[in-house]
Amino acid sequence: MVGLVLNHEMPCQNRRSLLFDGHLLVYSRIDATDALARHAIAIIAEALAPHDAEFAQFDLSVESFVERVGPLKSRFTNDLRTKELVRDLLRSFGCDLTTTYFDVPRLRVVPHGDYLSSGVSYAYKAHRDIWYASPTHQVNWWMPVFDVTVDRAMSFFPEYWSKSVRNSSSDFDYGEWCRVGRTMATSQVKEDTRKHPLPLEAISQASELRIAGTRGDVIMFSAAHLHATAPNHSGRTRFSIDFRTIHAEDLESGRGAPNIDSESTGSTLGDFLRASDFEPIEVNRALPHNQPGS
Ligand SMILES: [Fe+2]
Repeated sequence: MVGLVLNHEMPCQNRRSLLFDGHLLVYSRIDATDALARHAIAIIAEALAPHDAEFAQFDLSVESFVERVGPLKSRFTNDLRTKELVRDLLRSFGCDLTTTYFDVPRLRVVPHGDYLSSGVSYAYKAHRDIWYASPTHQVNWWMPVFDVTVDRAMSFFPEYWSKSVRNSSSDFDYGEWCRVGRTMATSQVKEDTRKHPLPLEAISQASELRIAGTRGDVIMFSAAHLHATAPNHSGRTRFSIDFRTIHAEDLESGRGAPNIDSESTGSTLGDFLRASDFEPIEVNRALPHNQPGS
């Protein structure tokens, strides 16, 4: 059973317990999430000016769109202000900044229709982040920048929380992904040839759940949840922010979500920064609890 827990204030540790049991936590916009969303909006507006960001795809060739969106995404991810706003957000949610680690936030840009679904706008097929070598201790945070609707959202498949999926994660190695995959993203305009881990069987849509929030609302979910980019049929480009957190206590105790079907190798753990000072995580200390299958 997967529950949708709405606006419950609780200590970080209790939130993680619910998440590792497969529940989805949803929080309405607060000042700190609004600040991050508005920061994204300012950068987006600049990158796509003079066009209205949600409709720019209809005025620009796909090549010109990619030329603008590639640098836009990099700027958002690498900007110091973005990290500071994530730190403020985590503080607002009661996370201990000295023991909470985050990876740099990503800006997702999902155009309407068939315009572009690869490279900078890769449409993620159903996957668990742990198939991409994320630790089972990982919590995902996902937030609309502009309002999301059910035809411009992401999809969860809750029935697969406890049901394994035949998949190609055994072919996924995070070291290789970093060496090859990421640098190719801006060149993948027409098709995506990166080695994404994929389901090897049809995914039942019976339990599909889409949560349509507004600017700055937050969805938290475990890295072990099966989810996907929903096809965008809304007539507007979708912009969303996501980032991931890990708590030192969970690394030390081994507490996390169950891994029922991931065989990926390597680990994303080295990408995580301590929220208090943005120092990289001490991977060597943490890795023994992070082997695939843990
Ligand atoms: Fe994901």
